[in-house]
Amino acid sequence: MVDKLIAVRTPLNSPFLPGSDSIPAVWAGRTPQLSDWHDVLRPRRLAGLAERGRAILGEAGLGKSTLVRRIARDASAAGDWVTPQLRIPLGADPLKLLASALLALADEAGLPTSRDRRIGALLARIQSVAASGIALTVRQAPGPDPFTVLRDLLIELGRAAIRRGNVVLVHIDEVQNVTNKDALSQVLIALGDAIAHEEPVDAPGGLRITRHLPLAIYLTGLPEFKDMTASRTGATFARRFQTTTLAALDDDDVAAALQPFVIDGWEVPDDLGGMGRVHMEPDAVRAIIDLCRGEPFLFQLAGERAWYAAADGVITRAQVLRGWRAARPEAATHVERILDRLPERERQFLEAMAGLPPEQRTLTNIASSMGLAKATEAGPTSQRLDSTRGIIERGRPYTFRHRAAEAYLTSDWPDVS
Ligand SMILES: Nc1ncnc2c1ncn2[C@@H]1O[C@H](COP(=O)(O)OP(=O)(O)OP(=O)(O)O)[C@@H](O)[C@H]1O
Ligand SMILES: [Mg+2]
Repeated sequence: MVDKLIAVRTPLNSPFLPGSDSIPAVWAGRTPQLSDWHDVLRPRRLAGLAERGRAILGEAGLGKSTLVRRIARDASAAGDWVTPQLRIPLGADPLKLLASALLALADEAGLPTSRDRRIGALLARIQSVAASGIALTVRQAPGPDPFTVLRDLLIELGRAAIRRGNVVLVHIDEVQNVTNKDALSQVLIALGDAIAHEEPVDAPGGLRITRHLPLAIYLTGLPEFKDMTASRTGATFARRFQTTTLAALDDDDVAAALQPFVIDGWEVPDDLGGMGRVHMEPDAVRAIIDLCRGEPFLFQLAGERAWYAAADGVITRAQVLRGWRAARPEAATHVERILDRLPERERQFLEAMAGLPPEQRTLTNIASSMGLAKATEAGPTSQRLDSTRGIIERGRPYTFRHRAAEAYLTSDWPDVS
């Protein structure tokens, strides 16, 4: 049949995007975090109510950056002033990055055209923060600290947003890469003070009241960031930021994301200039769910490989498995990287836990497998793996929340027969 010759699936029209920095078309879950933005954070800040910033942390590949990129895209579509994803390279000066991004927002908000001399002076000062960053404090240059300049500009942007009726959204990514403690503290204080700022405004009836500014701050990065804020800046950070540690996606979320392929087929442009539809067998969906173990990165990887495994209009289970075999080394590396990054003791803990039958995974048994005399000696390690990293859950018995790490440590996964 001529039909078979038409390539519906091509590399050019794959909706799956492993590892790319753009928002994937096949989106799964994260509903609580999306609705937190749409239903809580944005409306409350618009209404002038107090609301903390958001820190979204988690192990690599869980979709922290992508989640906030999507929130930022929605915000931008709603007319908000949004910074790009400000990725901090290791050891880079976050003050410079933030200052440059705020300068761009100031342009968007029309601040440079203001006739207010104070704003002119503020913009001049922020230029020097963008150029010199933390060095301004080191040199003990005359003038205010960078954080006061950043805070003042955020407040000015917030005032402009009140007039416009929109929100200012700042997204700083890879926050764990801020190695300079002073710079970190200055950034957190500037952001925290701006979020907490109360602005006097006139209410109907000639009443003078105060309100919060429509500012929303998102920080994303690895769980270690929590430790970095535990010291000096800790109290401010905890009071002004609400921290969420992302875990794996639920299987239901992955299934829901693939449902459009099962019901109507996924619409794509074909190579004849028309539109085609790509369907997925329910068995293929089940195979992807099983292989990716709730890891967003592995979900995209499995989907992409299945897409490339043939060119016709139906993705089968056999194609999913064939595709996964080709991706196997990448899937293994993904989990190995997460495990290798762990401190020795945490890695040992996970290995000991994985070595026990699921129902025997108690702190006492794990500690004894690790060769420790007392369960309490493994206490801090288990606490970190749970509350800081979100890799395990200390229930009765202990369970893995990072299901790909569990699969890697306890079975042949990612091998498929
Ligand atoms: N909700 C989601 N649904 C489907 N795919 C997702 C989702 N979130 C993220 N992904 C995909 O997972 C991969 C990893 O996402 P992302 O880069 O955002 O992770 P991360 O947590 O920021 O990782 P890292 O710590 O390495 O920066 C990307 O390919 C992205 O497309
Ligand atoms: Mg990221």
